[in-house]
Amino acid sequence: MGEVAKLTFNGKTIDLPVIEGTEHEKGIDLAKLRSETGLITYDPGYMNSGACQSSITYIDGEAGILRYRGYPIEELAERSNFLEVSWLLLNGELPAKGALDGFAQDLRMHSMLHEDMKAFFNAFPKNAHPMAVGAAVVNAMSTFYQDSSDPSNPEHVRISTIRLLAKMPTIAAYCYKHSKGQPFIYPNNRLDYCSNFLHMMFATPCDEYVVDPAVARALDVLLILHADHEQNCSTSTVRMVGSSLANLFASISAGVAALWGPRHGGANQAVIEMLEEIAAEGISGKTFLEKCKDKNDTRRLMGFGHRVYKNYDPRAKIIKTVCMDVLSRMKRSSRLLDIAMELEGVALKDEYFVTRKLYPNVDFYSGIIYQAIGIPTDMFTVLFAMGRLPGWIAQWQELQKDPTNKIGRPRQIYTGATKRAYSPMDKR
Ligand code: ACO
Repeated sequence: MGEVAKLTFNGKTIDLPVIEGTEHEKGIDLAKLRSETGLITYDPGYMNSGACQSSITYIDGEAGILRYRGYPIEELAERSNFLEVSWLLLNGELPAKGALDGFAQDLRMHSMLHEDMKAFFNAFPKNAHPMAVGAAVVNAMSTFYQDSSDPSNPEHVRISTIRLLAKMPTIAAYCYKHSKGQPFIYPNNRLDYCSNFLHMMFATPCDEYVVDPAVARALDVLLILHADHEQNCSTSTVRMVGSSLANLFASISAGVAALWGPRHGGANQAVIEMLEEIAAEGISGKTFLEKCKDKNDTRRLMGFGHRVYKNYDPRAKIIKTVCMDVLSRMKRSSRLLDIAMELEGVALKDEYFVTRKLYPNVDFYSGIIYQAIGIPTDMFTVLFAMGRLPGWIAQWQELQKDPTNKIGRPRQIYTGATKRAYSPMDKR
């Protein structure tokens, strides 16, 4: 028997097995806790709870390390591309050339949406948030592919995976086109994944959009950086929905909804709104930080802080460099970048942020790049969803293949009224 932790309660001591991961992180296996002691664990926000064993992504938040399937994020961002990273996340290994070419071809063959799906976009108000539209359309895919959505059928899972990855850029671009009142632009299968997305976003029937390869590459790097992040809020949501054996489209749609919130993926939109507010008010970074530190003020420094990283988020470092490259290539100066850098500089020296280990996260600089390439603010989180998609699917697939997979069903400590008699209306 390996290591055990001992728990004593009401005079009885039990041994709880300790499990260890490949990077030597340890966890107490509590599977028998309730049956042996009557106790459950209480851990709001799952600050200390592992929900699964996973071999996809490794994070060391103290050291600022992120690896997909063992490969450091820095190397993948520099040398790989989003399709290769998607394959890696889904299959566990880097693809051989033939496999990658076949994967890219499969995605090209499935990039169009069913014509009837356009009706969904047109039914939403023009000012609908694209995350709401995106979540709805992804869920609606379940209705178009009912004959191939069985989570236990490997061919159904394969084709649903291809359809989702292939159609997500089209869905994202259609959300935008609908909001602008412009015609939808069909995918152009001669273009690579990111160039095709930019084409569907910015071309019109009367004007071709010439894709700048540097912009397409910057977008590709951003997608790589967002592709997975182990058991975050949206991924846990995808797993939770998947644990009920709901189909892949329904599970991913729930992930999109979870990502929308400003504490999670919605932070990239919130960062730009915050920077614009600072620019409009003409206040210094230092003054703004005082508001974020004030416990009577609900504001937070958006794009700062992370549940897992207690060090500089490695993705933020890469994004900051990409951000400066893109702006200098486009010969653009950015008032918002200047403000962001000032805020970062002040915060990293401020006792409040230092003691709480609050560093820039993935969202701090990403919005500035999106803005420079013409993506509107409310589309930022949709791009995050496009990037996170292969990670969500890989995690969902891992769950479906896990022989220990059970329906996700936490318990609670009940704090409501104890038993009481029903009182009729005339007695209340
Ligand atoms: N600005 C000011 N104070 C902050 C910030 C911030 N951005 N983040 C955390 N704090 C403070 C909290 O007020 C708290 O202070 P206290 O101990 O005095 O009460 C302390 O730091 C710990 O914060 P928690 O909220 O308990 O930390 P948690 O791990 O639950 O939250 C989170 C992490 C949600 C990311 C938080 O840091 C935050 O709200 N950041 C801003 C939003 C953001 O950028 N989200 C994107 C995260 S990355 C992603 O999801 C892709």
